[in-house]
Amino acid sequence: MKTAEIRQKFLDFFASKGHQVVSSSSLVPGNDPTLLFTNAGMNQFKDVFLGFDKRSYSRATTAQKCVRAGGKHNDLENVGYTARHHTFFEMLGNFSFGDYFKRDAIHFAWEFLTSPQWLAIPADKLMVTVYATDDEAYDIWSREIGVPAEKIVRIGDNKGAPYASDNFWQMGDTGPCGPCTEIFYDHGDHIWGGPPGSPEEDGDRFIEIWNCVFMQFNRDDSGTMHPLPKPSVDTGMGLERISAVMQHVHANYEIDLFQNLIAAAARETGVPASQETPSLKVIADHIRAVSFLIADGVLPSNDGRGYVLRRIIRRAIRHGYKLGQKGLFLHRLVADLIEQMGTAYPELALRQAEIEDALRQEEQRFSETLDNGMALLEAALAGNQKRLDGATLFKLYDTFGFPVDLTADICRERGVEADLDSFEQEMEAQRARARAASSFKMAGNVEYSGADTHFHGYDKSSVDATVLALYKGQEQVKALAPGEEGI
Ligand code: ALA
Repeated sequence: MKTAEIRQKFLDFFASKGHQVVSSSSLVPGNDPTLLFTNAGMNQFKDVFLGFDKRSYSRATTAQKCVRAGGKHNDLENVGYTARHHTFFEMLGNFSFGDYFKRDAIHFAWEFLTSPQWLAIPADKLMVTVYATDDEAYDIWSREIGVPAEKIVRIGDNKGAPYASDNFWQMGDTGPCGPCTEIFYDHGDHIWGGPPGSPEEDGDRFIEIWNCVFMQFNRDDSGTMHPLPKPSVDTGMGLERISAVMQHVHANYEIDLFQNLIAAAARETGVPASQETPSLKVIADHIRAVSFLIADGVLPSNDGRGYVLRRIIRRAIRHGYKLGQKGLFLHRLVADLIEQMGTAYPELALRQAEIEDALRQEEQRFSETLDNGMALLEAALAGNQKRLDGATLFKLYDTFGFPVDLTADICRERGVEADLDSFEQEMEAQRARARAASSFKMAGNVEYSGADTHFHGYDKSSVDATVLALYKGQEQVKALAPGEEGI
């Protein structure tokens, strides 16, 4: 079953259960300063869970674009090295806003996964976890669904603090949260790994495919949990993972969509398409994140969201370079991405030219320093030492535009440790120099004093704003007549 078909089936299933099909929201969260990027299906419904926002429906289903790079849920460093880490992924979700709760949420999930009419996954390939004290969820799995006791695992606060648990989900440090029950797929005993809760749980055999969160609390910045107005449900299933299950492959990168993107990356870098080439997986992953981010209005810059975007683009370019592609190539993959995902996400085709232009420009800019930066790095690593010093990391960052995680990525390939602490010290020293050198001068030498102003250009391409002051020449004025020029 193709990825596109699974996405559609999921939405159809929940529509048949009375859920409103809602479009994915932007990767740039609207009105939510606590989030760098949309990282879960529930983000767009945060205020509905909190009771601040009312919708005309109490059940919803989505396929949501998500980016987990930077911020609380950050997967960037692992991409390319593991079977299923991504910067961009799609989360399938069903939501109840004070409508159904644990019973229906569990029954829906099981029906969709196992019913012959839907995904028809053999029940004996699945196992589940519940939050340690959640007897209600345990009993539903055990008595109503009939999952045998040895396949239901209770997971407590296994991350070192109250509510810090694999089975207690929170969107960020604050916001809606609650205990969850998760469904795992057993990829078979030919793959190393143990069931959740066992010492071998980090292996690749048992893979979480569905997380069903029982939203019950709002966590505030002091860590206090306030009960939500109505208990609700937030679920998430990674489309790439469930596609791997349905296509009988183990790694996400082997699913149809990724095989096609890997083939395109191979074509553009002039190497054979292969699952054994991590750089191709990195490029296939990153072209999705960067194209979707640009389509949602983020542009490469030196700060905030724009800098995360720049880091992902440059990481992809460097992996192309590693494969021997010294020219500009990344922007040519946008058309391939549109072929794979353009039907589900029309914004890609609508903004194709903008995405390609932004990528081409960034490729051009980085290509001016990449070669020289690599030469500096090669020289620094030539002595076979096991540690790269902070001064070199900083020089690569400051003079050659190498984001530090890009250099760390290269170090990792060579078994060298990047001294990130001393890089941070170099950064702090530079910030102090910049503070000392800055005196407030504005364009046209006007002196502004008044309410604080905020620069939004790093992460927004347009914004509603209030004009605080007007200058004609160097003199502050109340108004400018039509045709007059000012600042
Ligand atoms: N919000 C939950 C998650 O992201 C479903 O896993």
